[in-house]
Amino acid sequence: MAKVTVVGAGNVGATCANCVAQKDIVKEVVLLDIKEGVSEGKALDMWETAPINIYDTRIKGVTNDYAATADSDVVVITSGLPRKPGMSRDDLIGVNAGIVKSVTENVIKYSPNAKIIIVSNPLDVMCYCAYLTAKVDASKVFGMAGILDTARYKAFLAEELNVSPKDIQALLLGGHGDTMVPLPRYTTVGGIPVTELVDADKLNAIIERTKVGGGELVKLMGTSAWYAPGAAAAQMVEAVICDSRRVVPVCAMLNGEYGYENIYLGVPVVLGANGIEKIIEVKLTDEEKALLDASAQAVKSVMKVLDDMQ
Ligand code: NAI
Ligand code: 2OP
Repeated sequence: MAKVTVVGAGNVGATCANCVAQKDIVKEVVLLDIKEGVSEGKALDMWETAPINIYDTRIKGVTNDYAATADSDVVVITSGLPRKPGMSRDDLIGVNAGIVKSVTENVIKYSPNAKIIIVSNPLDVMCYCAYLTAKVDASKVFGMAGILDTARYKAFLAEELNVSPKDIQALLLGGHGDTMVPLPRYTTVGGIPVTELVDADKLNAIIERTKVGGGELVKLMGTSAWYAPGAAAAQMVEAVICDSRRVVPVCAMLNGEYGYENIYLGVPVVLGANGIEKIIEVKLTDEEKALLDASAQAVKSVMKVLDDMQ
């Protein structure tokens, strides 16, 4: 049976660990943080839900003890600062790049074959930072954003149409920022193109709300979201652990796909036991490609900040 580590026992990390445990698909979840006692306490609290939620997965909390994470099959990295009102995700790079780099060094030392899922922001550039640090194939280092961003898009559509979110399929490309590119042409409701069900103005408003969906929650709560982010990361863990070959948007290293080189960007992939099994290239209109170019440009400008730091 498999083992999963979640680094960072804050809002997103703890939620992710809890969701993974409830799926009952791994033998052990290790939750690691630098704050003494926090991950131990949260892990114990979660374990005490096992008799209620009926699962066997053991949850172990540790303070900065990477030996306890050894031989993990999947490691989720959520450590780092979340944004506060008025901040963009990109403002976090100064602190979070150092954290993601040192965490990745430790992770790879103890679990050289792990698939690494990055959550820390600014997401696309933190994936790149972890990839440079881990020095493993890019198929093993990837990021969570698209499942969250499409979940927000689907939730808003389900509300607008008063239908089950289960019946909405959607695709979204690009960076995890306000330049992300939801694609109405690839959005269906029970197999029906969304454009036949929602008028253009309403659909546009939903797309604009999706793009700033993270910011909407930061304004409400004073910190960034965690329930949907944690659940989204856990869904990626499940796809890898169960080798379910889900077709989902993931932040992946592009080397030629969509015409981009050496950049992490959100694209549809097949996610399975080997991590990114395949990157799927969909046809884009000129207008969609222009939006994706703008998103790639925004990610490149943050990558430059990372380069200048190193
Ligand atoms: P949080 O502040 O609740 O938790 C972060 C945790 O990381 C804290 O417990 C802190 O002690 C820990 N930490 C800091 N340095 C560490 C280190 N070197 N080693 C181990 N642990 C360390 O923050 P939250 O809300 O959980 O967010 C975490 C990160 O995830 C943020 O960067 C946030 O922006 C990002 N995020 C990304 C999303 C995405 O879609 N990719 C969605 C939501 C959040
Ligand atoms: C979110 O989208 C802040 O990236 C985080 O909620």
